[in-house]
Amino acid sequence: MAMPTEAARLPRHIAVIMDGNGRWAERRGSIRSVGHRAGAKAVQTAIEFCLERGIGCLTLFAFSSENWRRPEEEVGTLMKLFLRMLESEIEELHRRGVRIGFIGQRSDFPAEIREKMDWAERLTAGNDTLRLNIAGSYGGRWDIVNACRRLLAANDGAPLRAEQVTEESLGGFMALADQPEPDLLIRTGGDCRISNFLLWQMAYTEFWFTPVLWPDIDRAVLQQALDDYAGRERRFGLISAQVRGESA
Ligand code: IPE
Ligand code: IPE
Ligand code: MG
Repeated sequence: MAMPTEAARLPRHIAVIMDGNGRWAERRGSIRSVGHRAGAKAVQTAIEFCLERGIGCLTLFAFSSENWRRPEEEVGTLMKLFLRMLESEIEELHRRGVRIGFIGQRSDFPAEIREKMDWAERLTAGNDTLRLNIAGSYGGRWDIVNACRRLLAANDGAPLRAEQVTEESLGGFMALADQPEPDLLIRTGGDCRISNFLLWQMAYTEFWFTPVLWPDIDRAVLQQALDDYAGRERRFGLISAQVRGESA
């Protein structure tokens, strides 16, 4: 029996691996790009759901560091779709008070896309209903290496002593360091793996996997994930009695 989702049991931050677009199309006898277009519509469903439920942060895995190795034609389709989404969706999201940010190796993208990303971030910087983070050319390993480089650079070129490298100092240079860590990870498409998503940030995230393919995602499936999350006990290394405040 699913538990009702009380405010306190609502995740502050949901991360999503939006997987299954290609299979969705192939099962319909269509080419993979049809699935990616359907997947883009599903993104709107997920954003709408988070806005309605008062979720603070939503991080969507749109394109991984490894996805560049897909066939050139598919990468091209995804870039076109990405650009089109940036052109058509940002203003409406801005009206809804969404603050948009992009994480990943931005220099990998064509200039036209980079400019739109910068513009969207500037335009929505003052918004506060939902923080929408789009991970593009993102990899968890990239993020950790990038944070190391930034930590070194921040020391003004002076050599860093080993004791200056701490979870706090390094973590401060990781993507999304200014937001709560994801409470809940949803992965669609049936595979139970992390695929190099937020490796550092998901140390204590609750994982929820569903066979539903991303273009088929709807409010009921998302609600199922929230209900499941609400029933879990997060212990963060403690014992249950401590979490319940019964034992010192
Ligand atoms: C996720 O769907 C979208 C991206 C990785 C860009 P896939 O394209 O991975 O779809 P499947 O997993 O092949 O079905
Ligand atoms: C993960 O999906 C990346 C995105 C959803 C953007 P993949 O389809 O690339 O993951 P693998 O290759 O099946 O692990
Ligand atoms: Mg996939």
